[in-house]
Amino acid sequence: MTSPLDALPFRHVLPHTADLSPQGRLAIGGCDLRELAERYGTPLYVFDEEDFRQTCREFRRAFESRWPEARVLYAAKAHLSRPIARIAAEEGLGMDVVSGGELAVALAGGMPAQRLYFHGNNKTPAELAQAVDAGVGRVVVDNFHELDLLARIAAERGVRQPILLRISPNVDPHTHAKTTTGVLDSKFGFAIATGDALRAVEAALAARSLELRGLHVHLGSPIFEIEPYEEAARVVCAFAAQAADATGFAFREFSPGGGFALAYTREQHPPTIDEYAERLTAALDEALATHRLERPSIHIEPGRALVGRAMVAVYTVGARKEIPGVRTYVSVDGGMADNIRPAMYGSRYEALSVDRPLAAEEETVTLAGKYCESGDILIRDARLPRLRPGELVALPASGAYNLAMSSNYNMALRPPVVAVRKGRARLLQRRETVEDLMARDIWPPEGGA
Ligand code: LLP
Repeated sequence: MTSPLDALPFRHVLPHTADLSPQGRLAIGGCDLRELAERYGTPLYVFDEEDFRQTCREFRRAFESRWPEARVLYAAKAHLSRPIARIAAEEGLGMDVVSGGELAVALAGGMPAQRLYFHGNNKTPAELAQAVDAGVGRVVVDNFHELDLLARIAAERGVRQPILLRISPNVDPHTHAKTTTGVLDSKFGFAIATGDALRAVEAALAARSLELRGLHVHLGSPIFEIEPYEEAARVVCAFAAQAADATGFAFREFSPGGGFALAYTREQHPPTIDEYAERLTAALDEALATHRLERPSIHIEPGRALVGRAMVAVYTVGARKEIPGVRTYVSVDGGMADNIRPAMYGSRYEALSVDRPLAAEEETVTLAGKYCESGDILIRDARLPRLRPGELVALPASGAYNLAMSSNYNMALRPPVVAVRKGRARLLQRRETVEDLMARDIWPPEGGA
């Protein structure tokens, strides 16, 4: 299908179904975004359900066609609600959860417990008990403290809990320091280099209430190169062979984690899902052959690459401040409370006018948020048409880690999420209300005056 939007230099960061509405405005899933904004208010997050479902299928096809024993798990930390869990379950995905909260929401949304993998570097005893009681498919054990705790919790219940061990392979994925995980100096996982990984295999095999099924690594996020995954496959296979020799360990399952990149800006063209799948599975096969190991099943955990492009954030333009010779600020009605990523990681986004998506770029302005902090900037030096107050501006690629990391800073109300598909809009999450902001207060104060 062709669309006039194909002329945009950043068409590829917009959801699949993005198009012009009959009124010449930006439409997603056949819904005009101005009409949605008038109905639901702004800031608004519009979820292209078709884009998300198609990406789920693309990941499954890319990996399952090359590796029949492959499973795609959605990394729920990128964005989670019950409706999203339900859609992921419908698409046959499993899910990576990292807290009791994510676990509860995933289950409530209808994700089967068996398809859940529970991660985290400091799961509490209560969370581990919750996971074992729910019957999660795997606990991905991160450290010795957890190994002991989980062995005890499973034993108390008479359960043999399947686990993977999270290994720290010392592979640098060349991404932001705050989202680099698989290097030696990291809080995550058992390092191969220190001998901890081998000791963990021994300990796990000795624990009768645990069933050690394989190894997990996660290198970082986002990873725009494929070499780190290939390198991780080689390092993990070499370690698996060493562990097999030393302990009789059987390498039945391997997870190379998530981290698959997403294009946020016109310059970014990350590898396709097929390219990741092709090179990762080829490198894994080669490394397995080198060490005479049999094919394990593989579990991949994309978060960002599944949900990132499926959501667009929509804001209303307000104040304009010109500082001649310095900078022009254009402020919108959202910002760091719904998207902390520019402030936290220096992340870049594209922006376009909802009302005039094809309007020429006329000026360079800084798109600022509305919160009381100078660092609350959504896009520094954005090229945009001259936006008028009241005009709507859309930031594509806003699905991953925006709402997941959102806050009530300045008592901001978290925005609603509206799913669009084939001309129909469905509210998945309503906007927070002032009542929500006060719901946890004990009021009037206990034992008051
Ligand atoms: N698996 C594990 C064990 C992870 O820790 C993560 C992300 C993923 C999978 C999914 O990574 P993804 O495919 O989404 O890149 N807040 C940061 C990203 C933090 C990622 C944490 N772990 C951001 O906004 O960029």
